[in-house]
Amino acid sequence: MRLPTLDDCDVGGKRVLLRVDLNVPVQDGRITDMTRIERQVPTIRELADRNARVIILSHFDRPKGKVVPSKSLKPLVEPLARAIGRPVAFADDCAGPVAEAAVAALKDGQVLLLENTRFHAGEENNDADFARAVAALGDIFVNDAFSAAHRADATISGIAALLPSVAGRSMMLELTHLEKALGNPARPLMAVVGGNKVSTKIAVLENLAGKVQVLAIGGAMANTFLAAQGIPVGKSLHEADHLETARKVVRMAKERGVELLLPADVVVAKEFKAGAASRVTGVTNIGADEMALDVGPATIAALTAKLAGARTLVWNGPMGAFETAPFDAGTVAAARAVAAATRAGKLLSVAGGGDTVAALAHAGVEKDFTYVSSAGGAFLEWLEGKALPGVEALKEAGKRQ
Ligand code: 3PG
Repeated sequence: MRLPTLDDCDVGGKRVLLRVDLNVPVQDGRITDMTRIERQVPTIRELADRNARVIILSHFDRPKGKVVPSKSLKPLVEPLARAIGRPVAFADDCAGPVAEAAVAALKDGQVLLLENTRFHAGEENNDADFARAVAALGDIFVNDAFSAAHRADATISGIAALLPSVAGRSMMLELTHLEKALGNPARPLMAVVGGNKVSTKIAVLENLAGKVQVLAIGGAMANTFLAAQGIPVGKSLHEADHLETARKVVRMAKERGVELLLPADVVVAKEFKAGAASRVTGVTNIGADEMALDVGPATIAALTAKLAGARTLVWNGPMGAFETAPFDAGTVAAARAVAAATRAGKLLSVAGGGDTVAALAHAGVEKDFTYVSSAGGAFLEWLEGKALPGVEALKEAGKRQ
């Protein structure tokens, strides 16, 4: 179903409550990745240009319903103002008299950021009174926070039931690409899934096994698949209590005619530290005192060969311990192969979730994928095939409007 968007409403002179996701990574008071802020710029600018009174809502971190000064959104005023190229006012609360006064002072085309929605317990409880108090600040609700769409919070799903509601530009960009990648993809469709744990990706693997033609598995989770086949993995990170899970995924892939690509070779070391002595070996030769920390060149060659026949690729999770050289080589090589196929116009590539964006940035190719999602948990839930409450709420709003 088509979602209502900014094209469907007249925002001029209106108080527009805009839900974004400013849950950015911060280290020692510095924002280490501006992606989420940059992704919100088009919607904020468009609303201001169309003379809306733009009232921005976001959560930050997990203050658990209490005012935690270190989790204030105030330090984001400056970076946000710089990104959108216009001033941003701030209110110390997102509901009640302080927020109401700040909204009342707002003129057409001006932008106001409200304090962390999660300072109120009602946010994560999707409390009806809290949702009503926030909704009272606006005339229209715009949800542009795909990366928070998996949370049924008051300012994500609650408000959408109370006000005319539409999707913002960033939300639509995410959904359009995700639809092209998994909803209605050009085939053959290939998925690359890495990361540490099978246990956190069971639902992802099961859903993908029903959709893709090729499923490549890397990262430490591949060790669990090897162990499940009775291959000794030495001291490699693996989940001994999830061998049956891995076997089930293998069975599912077989039943559905999905080609499963498991590592043929790995990079092993006796210690896990930068520059540690390492060697490449076939997966059946991992020593009892060794650990597999990356996929090897034969595995990358097999993956690259499969890529050549694919028309669509979905990627989640690194192929190895990419933060620690030399165990980044597999992730970097695989990411560059995807980037090259995408640049050549042969592949539509969509990546997202947790460490994935950092891994692609490390390989220097995050701009060469067709689309890199800004979402972590929401991307994974979408890969699982789950309905996302934030998107469902917009669908419901679309039916009403
Ligand atoms: C995210 O960073 O994935 C979103 O902002 C959601 O944050 P949460 O996991 O704290 O709900």
